[in-house]
This record gives sequence, C-alpha cells and structure tokens, in this order.
Amino acid sequence: MRKTRICTRCESAFFRGKIGFMAKTARNLGELKLVAEGFLKKLSKGAAADKAVLVGLSGDLGSGKTAFTKCVATILGVDDTVTSPTFVLEKRYNIPVRGGRQRFARLIHIDAYRLNKGEEMNALDWEATLGDKQNLIFLEWPEQVSSALPKNMINLNFEYVDDGVRSISGDYIE
Ligand SMILES: Nc1ncnc2c1ncn2[C@@H]1O[C@H](COP(=O)(O)OP(=O)(O)OP(=O)(O)O)[C@@H](O)[C@H]1O
Ligand SMILES: [Mg+2]
Repeated sequence: MRKTRICTRCESAFFRGKIGFMAKTARNLGELKLVAEGFLKKLSKGAAADKAVLVGLSGDLGSGKTAFTKCVATILGVDDTVTSPTFVLEKRYNIPVRGGRQRFARLIHIDAYRLNKGEEMNALDWEATLGDKQNLIFLEWPEQVSSALPKNMINLNFEYVDDGVRSISGDYIE
C-alpha cells in the first residue's frame, strides 16, 4: 500500500514515495557520504514538488549531524565551505545548476540547539522557508523547536557507536 504523508498544517502531501525505515552504519566519513548519497537520491525523486523538504537530524553532540549535512552539500555541488550553524542559527547555500532537472535551488542548514521554543523559528522567516519548494532544509536539534515543525517531516537519528563509527536511522523514501 502506498503511504502518502499529509502535512496537517498546510494540507498538502509532502511525499509521493512510500516511507520506509533505514538503519545504516557509517564506519568512516566516506561511508557517511555513501549513506547521504542513497538518502538524497530517493529524497529528490520522492519528495512532493510543491513544498520545501524538511529533514530533522536528531542525536547527541558530535554524533554526525553536521558531518552528514556537509556530505549532502558536497554531493549537491555546493561550492561554499559548510560549517556548523550553531552560532549563527541558519546558513543558506545555493545549489548550482548542473544540467537536467533539479529539484532544489537552496540547501538550508539550521541548528536549533540554542533555541527553546518553536516561536523562535519565526525570526528565520520559517513559514516562508517551509513554503518555498526550492528549499531543502536540514534541521539539527528539531526537538528544541518541535511546535514549529510540520507533523510530517523526515526524521533521521544519529548515534555515536565507536570512534569513527556512527549509526544513521530513520525515515527513508522508497
Ligand atoms: N562515521 C562518521 N560519521 C560522522 N561523523 C564522524 C564519523 N567518524 C568521525 N566523525 C567525526 O565526528 C564529528 C561529528 O561532529 P558533528 O559536528 O557532525 O556532530 P553534530 O552531530 O553536528 O554535533 P552538534 O550537535 O554539536 O552540532 C566530526 O568531527 C566528524 O568528522
Ligand atoms: Mg552540528
């Protein structure tokens, strides 16, 4: 059965694809990039075309959320150096056009670690950011601002397994 997630706030489907569960282990940054590649490929195909795509990245300090977002940026061909937005809250990167159809024009990387409630997202023009279909949003520490999040978003969990080893689990568009 095809499962389509509906955003209850905007009443539109976020995904065309079926949502599955992934559980991966990355034993080094190269493997992390492979996980990011697989994840992105499906995401670009399965995400609905009329809204931003929001991916929440949960997990302890140092579990790999920013490292994963850096992999995503590299894969998308972002030229700028991606650094943690912990202090600036949000960073926006243009995704260069590389021929063919391209689902996203901007990668938006947010770190909500220092926020305490959803309303604080308003400072980031959050509703407009969510409504712009050209945005691919990666949000670290989504639980800090849970009231500002659409019910149906993609959630990934990062865990420290060992030195250099991390597990990545969560939603996956099949
Ligand atoms: N397999 C791996 N996957 C991800 N990161 C790894 C891996 N092996 C080593 N690392 C290192 O672990 C660190 C992860 O830090 P990162 O800044 O990504 O954490 P974070 O989850 O964003 O933490 P914070 O909540 O503080 O923002 C990086 O220095 C990264 O290079
Ligand atoms: Mg981080």
